[in-house]
Amino acid sequence: MDFGIKNRLSRIIKAKTGKTVMLAVDHGYFQGPTTGLRDPGKTVRPLISFADCLFITRGMLRTCIDPKSDTAICLRVSGGPSILGELSNEDITTSMEEAIRLNASGVGMSIFVGARNEDRTISNLGRLVNEAERFGMPVLAVTAVGKEMGRDARYLGLACRIAAEIGAHFVKTYYCEDFYKVAEGCPVPIVMAGGKKIPERDALQMTKNAITEGAAGVDMGRNIFQSGNPLGMIKAIRSIVHKGASVEEAFEIYSKK
Ligand code: 5RP
Repeated sequence: MDFGIKNRLSRIIKAKTGKTVMLAVDHGYFQGPTTGLRDPGKTVRPLISFADCLFITRGMLRTCIDPKSDTAICLRVSGGPSILGELSNEDITTSMEEAIRLNASGVGMSIFVGARNEDRTISNLGRLVNEAERFGMPVLAVTAVGKEMGRDARYLGLACRIAAEIGAHFVKTYYCEDFYKVAEGCPVPIVMAGGKKIPERDALQMTKNAITEGAAGVDMGRNIFQSGNPLGMIKAIRSIVHKGASVEEAFEIYSKK
């Protein structure tokens, strides 16, 4: 890895702990104005200084985020289908030039292993990595799970390993039983997506498990911004990721209004 990639990546994954708290707010790129993100600027404003990085599309970055914020940006650069269509039919939608102009510290796209357009999304990842490496830009591969696919260690391990083999510099995936097997088989850092909203204590437990089993942090959305107390929740997640807090300690932080 060259200096540029390492330097940008260190804006996302903090050297002090080797971990990151990414706040994912890209959901609208296929779901539209989803719960908690009807006004992304309003949602993000109180949380942004507690996130190491925002995972966001260029449209929401330009219109909703204060350019003076020093939180790193990882730009979602893939899209195409809406929630009404074939989700795996994604392409790269945002250029590298745009990512650089927006001062992104990373770019991210989804791959759909085991889905209809598996091969094209994986070759898109290869093309994105080729281009990103010319500019010293780290690439996050999001291992998207189609409706028909399970979320077990065998499947997620396959998807993460393929992403790393193709050259992704870090990977996002879901938590699953035996997550350590997914982490062991993937030589680049893995960040955990939160998935659907679950009770806060369960989301904190899942985060603790993922970190203990080898995750380099989270790229979490709904379990933060759809929480009863989003600010408390991001602080609680931070305490687990960066400070090794227990679930009980983190839940106490969450509960403080
Ligand atoms: C959607 C994404 C989201 O960023 C990812 O799913 C994280 O958000 P959440 O924690 O809500 O699952 O990449 O494809």
